[in-house]
Amino acid sequence: MPPGENGDGESPLQVIGQLAGGIAHDFNNILGVIINYARFAQGSVPPGSPAAADIEEIRRAAERGVGLVRQLMILARRESGTQVVFDLNELITGLDGFLRSTIGEHIVVERRLEPDLWPLADDPARIEQILINLAVNSRDAMPGGGTLTFETGNAELGPTETLANPGVEPGRFVRLLVTDTGIGMDSEVASRAFEPMFTTKASGQGTGLGLATVYTIVTQAGGMIDLASAPGRGTSIEIHLPASTTSRTAPPRPSQAAPAGRGESVLIAEDDEAVRRVAERILETAGYRVTSCPGGMEALELLDDRGTHYDMLLADVVMPGMRGDDLARRAVAMRPGIPVLFMSGYSDDAPPSDLGPTTGRVAFIDKPFDAGALLERMRELLGA
Ligand SMILES: Nc1ncnc2c1ncn2[C@@H]1O[C@H](COP(=O)(O)OP(=O)(O)OP(=O)(O)O)[C@@H](O)[C@H]1O
Ligand SMILES: [Mg+2]
Repeated sequence: MPPGENGDGESPLQVIGQLAGGIAHDFNNILGVIINYARFAQGSVPPGSPAAADIEEIRRAAERGVGLVRQLMILARRESGTQVVFDLNELITGLDGFLRSTIGEHIVVERRLEPDLWPLADDPARIEQILINLAVNSRDAMPGGGTLTFETGNAELGPTETLANPGVEPGRFVRLLVTDTGIGMDSEVASRAFEPMFTTKASGQGTGLGLATVYTIVTQAGGMIDLASAPGRGTSIEIHLPASTTSRTAPPRPSQAAPAGRGESVLIAEDDEAVRRVAERILETAGYRVTSCPGGMEALELLDDRGTHYDMLLADVVMPGMRGDDLARRAVAMRPGIPVLFMSGYSDDAPPSDLGPTTGRVAFIDKPFDAGALLERMRELLGA
């Protein structure tokens, strides 16, 4: 039985998750507003000033809030994300900047990556969450410095090797080993480490959700996880994730400066006024022409006016009155081919893809988003 589950189906965490799921949408809207206004404010104070540092702290605290909501959603098994085929090595290498800023210079990061690693088929954001949670734990276990090692490899496992994990099918696995030279765990801590809300850290330093989230992601993917640790001897976490049978499809993520608008006209439908204003500001600053309204009915009225032209509809998914996907379906009927970008708080929000043959141009952006992510997604949808 997975940690935290009581045998009658619904774990306490799933119940918490149901509640959290209900407010995640609003919570992400709030955090998105804080993060974006912090960015706007940072742009208007002198770099290096005390105000800039204070604003940075506000932004970081809000980002932590985003991380917490994400972990709760994963634990509550409400977060599924889109599956792509990708290379774990690239994910590890891509984490370089994060590691340098979060882990600190007193810790040496080593990588031993199998050059011909089999691909994974999963949501890369979830697998990245594994890497981040493990790296942060290792950092906390090495206050005086040490070595954090990421190792990858291919492993063909037979029935005897998967026996202890009933949900796991024998076959080809990608093996990930994350090792640190930190304080380690005694057997009592090690046996409880995967329990949700188990933490040995001071209040405010840890919520005890890190390893429980890792466990959930791994087992949901049909994988296995093992922990080896001893006081003073460091910790090693071994993960096996089923290898993908298809070869990789994930395009390399181009991340240059945020692409600008070219005067295209965008119609925004978003019921949360503060989020709407953030989106307006980002798009106007980037050179788009923006018309915005608080809901589906208002958007349809605007679209009904034949004298107007819109290059794109940017719509929230969950709105009172008319959902974003209903709006999109009607909008596409009125303006065939209009590209639609949905802003969704959670993957539960993901609208059906049956918007008809009139448009193939539909995309999603997760809330909360920042300017860079929104502008990139806009450009992808509108074409270069
Ligand atoms: N690499 C490690 N070295 C030593 N102890 C660890 C390590 N990883 C986890 N632990 C122990 O397991 C506990 C649970 O870890 P977990 O990541 O689930 O929660 P947390 O780190 O305390 O809080 P959170 O991850 O939610 O911020 C930790 O409090 C710590 O005692
Ligand atoms: Mg942790």
